[in-house]
Amino acid sequence: MAEHTQLIDAINIRTAVRAYDSEPIDDDTARQLEMALQPINLISDLDIQLVRDQPKVFAEANASGHLTNAANYLAIVGPKDDAEARERAGFYAERVVLTATLRGLGTLWVAGSWDRTEAARHCRVAGSQELYLAVVIGHPKDHLAYRAKSYEELCEIQRTHRPTKTFEQFTAPMDDAARAAAPDWFRAGVEAAMKAPSAMNRQPITFSYNSADDTAAAHIDPAAGDEHWALNDLGIAKLHFQVGSGQGQWAWGDGGLFIHK
Ligand SMILES: Cc1cc2nc3c(=O)[nH]c(=O)nc-3n(C[C@H](O)[C@H](O)[C@H](O)COP(=O)(O)O)c2cc1C
Repeated sequence: MAEHTQLIDAINIRTAVRAYDSEPIDDDTARQLEMALQPINLISDLDIQLVRDQPKVFAEANASGHLTNAANYLAIVGPKDDAEARERAGFYAERVVLTATLRGLGTLWVAGSWDRTEAARHCRVAGSQELYLAVVIGHPKDHLAYRAKSYEELCEIQRTHRPTKTFEQFTAPMDDAARAAAPDWFRAGVEAAMKAPSAMNRQPITFSYNSADDTAAAHIDPAAGDEHWALNDLGIAKLHFQVGSGQGQWAWGDGGLFIHK
């Protein structure tokens, strides 16, 4: 694990982790995660909280075998009825996911495999806020063996563990000539977005490159059937694209533009 330290490395090895060891997240690791959360909450106007050792939240999924030993989570809390905050939640919580990945922790976004009411009992949700989603976090099952794997092995697992839409599908608004003419940073951004988590692996985001002003745009594809979590998945995909492309900044929103720096 020692050889990978960059966010792009985290993107290249992250997969959804559904089976965990029973070993708790220790105080030191929790403190480091909290330190990562503080600046993110400050700039995002979200209130992402680490909640440890509450297996009741996942009792049903753990009992059915869908999950194993899920007990800790990031509670993603943000302002009520705010579409842009939903997108920011995807963007910034995925940023925490990548930090956790670099620390050898496993993560899983959950919209369905949790007890939301039980989860809300263990975090702060003000009257003006709601609990959007959670991300399970913990030591992956057999984590010592996991940590012994090389970076290349972990990349290979990521590359092959699930189906993905193709680069052409991810850039559906473009034709072949436009794809060929797009700069390397655009291709690298899309390739990082192809590795992003999305609800039910629907991969509902497409990207396009506009040579006239050297910008990229991200779009929600209504045909992907992900209307419920599309804004969250838009935020996640934008974060992956930004890391993959090297440097630059997005405007929020469906159709928001990316300026590469
Ligand atoms: C918003 C969101 C909600 C999700 N909800 C669940 C869930 O309730 N249960 C589950 O097992 N996986 C859930 N996932 C994980 C996805 O199924 C997973 O990310 C997707 O299949 C892609 O696989 P990967 O994360 O390994 O790349 C969710 C992912 C996202 C982004």
